[in-house]
Amino acid sequence: MPDYPVYNSILARRTIRKFSQKPVSKEILSKLVNAARLAPSGGNRQPLDYMVIDDAALGVELFKHVRWAGYIAPKGAPKSGEMPAAYIIVLDDKPVKSTTVAYDVGAAVQNIMLAAWEENIGCCWMGAIDRAKIREFFRIPMDFEIDSVVSLGYKAEAPVVEEYKGSVKYWLDEEGVLHVPKLKLEDVVRWNKF
Ligand SMILES: Cc1cc2nc3c(=O)[nH]c(=O)nc-3n(C[C@H](O)[C@H](O)[C@H](O)COP(=O)(O)O)c2cc1C
Repeated sequence: MPDYPVYNSILARRTIRKFSQKPVSKEILSKLVNAARLAPSGGNRQPLDYMVIDDAALGVELFKHVRWAGYIAPKGAPKSGEMPAAYIIVLDDKPVKSTTVAYDVGAAVQNIMLAAWEENIGCCWMGAIDRAKIREFFRIPMDFEIDSVVSLGYKAEAPVVEEYKGSVKYWLDEEGVLHVPKLKLEDVVRWNKF
């Protein structure tokens, strides 16, 4: 049987919102940013910067400005002892003047999440963030747009994918297992005609 590590990680990857408190090494965090750096970029302009937060005290501050799992709030947020070990703040260097920033971020963050998954590290890509507060706290210059935050750490939960049954809302069962509905392949693919 051939091994398909990338495809297998794509199938297995789920958003993780509960983390073991084992620190993530600088070596691994650098590897994740390297994976982002090498992602495709419109016009190859490469407008993105990555601010890595692995200092525990700074992480506590950043945690205040991100919002978790809207469909299952407040249960879905990490509790004490489940907090992310690190964060990557994705920044758009506006003077670079890319017209494809959102696409570039998508490709870069997916690279981060897949490279992390191979290290047994889970991620939550977060767009529901208080950009003004994050800018103020970390003194991020106005030339940089704060796009999103990737929260990460060694996995302490194992969410499961399930077939879409009329709702896209992820949910927690009695055991606290997160279920994530995904549309069926036959519902999203069109072969040769609409
Ligand atoms: C652009 C983007 C922004 C997201 N923002 C948040 C967020 O602010 N908070 C959160 O808890 N999850 C966030 N998520 C995670 C989604 O809820 C998650 O990807 C979705 O439920 C599907 O689960 P899966 O990643 O396991 O496939 C975001 C995902 C994407 C792609």
